[in-house]
Amino acid sequence: MALKDLISINDLTSREINRIFAIAADLKAEPRKYGTSLAGCSVALIFEKPSLRTRVTFDLGATQMGASCVYLDHQNVRLGERESVKDMALNLERWVDCIVARVYSHETVIELAAHSSVPVINGLSEFSHPCQGLTDYFTLTEKIGPNLKGFRIAYIGDGNNTCHSLVFGAAKLGAHIRVGTPKGYEPDPAVIKQAKKDARKSGGSVVIVNDPFEAVDGAQAVYTDVWASMGFEAETERRREIFSSFRITRKLMKAAAAGAFFMHCLPAHRGDEVDADVIDSRNSIVYDQAENRLHTQKAIMLLLVQENQ
Ligand code: CP
Ligand code: NVA
Repeated sequence: MALKDLISINDLTSREINRIFAIAADLKAEPRKYGTSLAGCSVALIFEKPSLRTRVTFDLGATQMGASCVYLDHQNVRLGERESVKDMALNLERWVDCIVARVYSHETVIELAAHSSVPVINGLSEFSHPCQGLTDYFTLTEKIGPNLKGFRIAYIGDGNNTCHSLVFGAAKLGAHIRVGTPKGYEPDPAVIKQAKKDARKSGGSVVIVNDPFEAVDGAQAVYTDVWASMGFEAETERRREIFSSFRITRKLMKAAAAGAFFMHCLPAHRGDEVDADVIDSRNSIVYDQAENRLHTQKAIMLLLVQENQ
């Protein structure tokens, strides 16, 4: 069955995830082989929120495969304001071969996909960040080998979009994920319920705790993200107090497995969610993650565009 969109990792099978990883690895090893794979194609990049990594890597990735990009920022495109999301989808599909959208509401990206005949890729919504989660697990396959079954990852901090995608991914791939958040900041219960169901099938597990030390115990990778995501900036000060014991310190890293990787989707705030001596340490793989956004998203675009031509 052809995959049309990438809205959430939850929509993918483990087979599809591994296919994306295999293409990403080949694209990374031999980028020139794919220099005309998307020749004559065009991609619309719609961003309601700021971005460095997602914007640059989708734009460069499409260009490196021969496609051209049109960037639409929040000043020019207010999804659902100047015209309906449905009308935007019905216009864009006449001109482009793929739409990447970074949006506030997850419903917006679902609606774009529902009304567009061309693939829609979620470049981050309040609910999920699938390109990030896929990249993160791809990065781990490079470090430990292709099979992530039994791998132990801890996510510490806010039960946000990045957390949701990591939870969905662990459950699909048979990894064990432990999430440590302050009370009231746990991931969406519906995500946990669905992921636990998948984990039972894959041999993985999903555990939610409110103690960061309990969460990292035995973890082979420790992951964190900002405490106040885009759209929650007004809560920054309040969250700084609530989350202060969830900062990734050297002491917390020592409670994880020996040699545990430190991971972060970036942007990072040193001194808030992570100490500088952790993110800038030898075990930090944050720039490998950032680099791999390029290769993974090229694989995603290629797969979706080719399957839907
Ligand atoms: N990690 C990530 O998505 O970065 P940007 O917000 O810079 O795109
Ligand atoms: N959770 C963060 C991720 C940024 C890449 C946010 O949504 O702002």
